[in-house]
Amino acid sequence: MQLTINKSRLMKRLSELARIGAFSDGGVCRLALTDEDKAARDQVMQWMKDLHLQTHIDQVGNLIGVRPGAKDIAPIVIGSHIDTVPTGGRFDGAAGVMAGLEAIESLNEYKIQTERPVAVVTFTNEEGVRYHNDLLGSRAFCGYISPEEAYKTVGTDHTIFGEELKRIGFAGEFPSGSIRPHAFLELHIEQGPVLDREQVSIGVVEAITGIAWYEITIQGEANHAGTTPISMRQDAGLTAARIITYLREIANSLGENQRATCGAISFYPNAINVIPEKATLSIDLRNPDKTTLEEAEQRLLDFLEKCTIQDNVQIETQRLAWVEPRACHTDIISTIIEATNELGYSHKTMVSGAVHDALTMASYCPTGMIFVPSKGGVSHNPAEYTSADELEAGANVLLKTVLKLSQQKM
Ligand code: GLV
Ligand code: MN
Ligand code: MN
Repeated sequence: MQLTINKSRLMKRLSELARIGAFSDGGVCRLALTDEDKAARDQVMQWMKDLHLQTHIDQVGNLIGVRPGAKDIAPIVIGSHIDTVPTGGRFDGAAGVMAGLEAIESLNEYKIQTERPVAVVTFTNEEGVRYHNDLLGSRAFCGYISPEEAYKTVGTDHTIFGEELKRIGFAGEFPSGSIRPHAFLELHIEQGPVLDREQVSIGVVEAITGIAWYEITIQGEANHAGTTPISMRQDAGLTAARIITYLREIANSLGENQRATCGAISFYPNAINVIPEKATLSIDLRNPDKTTLEEAEQRLLDFLEKCTIQDNVQIETQRLAWVEPRACHTDIISTIIEATNELGYSHKTMVSGAVHDALTMASYCPTGMIFVPSKGGVSHNPAEYTSADELEAGANVLLKTVLKLSQQKM
């Protein structure tokens, strides 16, 4: 008998979750540790309890639901996130957590006793939008960042991570870093155009991009827009513009996998007739190859130095995040491919240009990722869309992979 998940149950949970923090255009805003995030967490906890899982909230607010195995040995962990970007869609992150719950409900329904425990985890602050310490939950889960360090993180709205975690009631006591999975699996929407364009059902991720985040503060001098001769200006706005343009040069010169983005910028005093005294911009650099990513960073830093001389400004650089690119585990990749073939779905191996909690987990335990198509490759956008059939296929592959891995004794 072929075990399969229940598509309507999966979609029902996904729609219910998407109501929390919903916009009228179908989008979702659930920034980490906001009231919307709290409401979504309450809902996920309730679902975990309904599935009779042993639930834990760890010290950084990761939600963990464990279905015991025949033996009390290292679990198979399925995980993703439910926080979103400010104008997010309903699938990024949520699809993985809902597929995890659905896989577990299917195990319950078929009364399957797995050898290993199977757990589902919702990681805190994957997106890193409100707290730039991105992938925070998964990094704490692996013991790469201590709860104390996480608590000190200051948000873009000047809130403190530790205080907000307490305020929403999710500062748990379960020690972060105390579970080492036998394997970690994350189902996620591709967030790129490849599977949709090629009409392939399943993306099997071979490697996940590395990422470097910077905040750049340019200090010039405010002065009159009309009277200050161009040659006498210390125009922080001009330098910001040069940097943004240079990012595209970095991307164009380092091969097709190099990404470089300025996603946020602010000027001070931000007035029409005042030369900007200060400009603050965010920079996101990515590459699945570590050496090339480092090369991109070095080029950026060299360029900033040139700008300070050319524009007579000062530049302060803060590296907000750096995560090395990682390959997924070859055994897990083959297990996912085997499961996909047995189910009769088409597949393609690919590299992830988005970062995921699986990137953190890949340096901690054998890790695999299952991608499902994103219509038109659109993501971090309310128009993000994956059909019920596509999600069903992904969740079936997840279930089958879990079944295979959870029977492994070694
Ligand atoms: C996460 O969504 C990222 O890739 O920025
Ligand atoms: Mn995501
Ligand atoms: Mn995202």
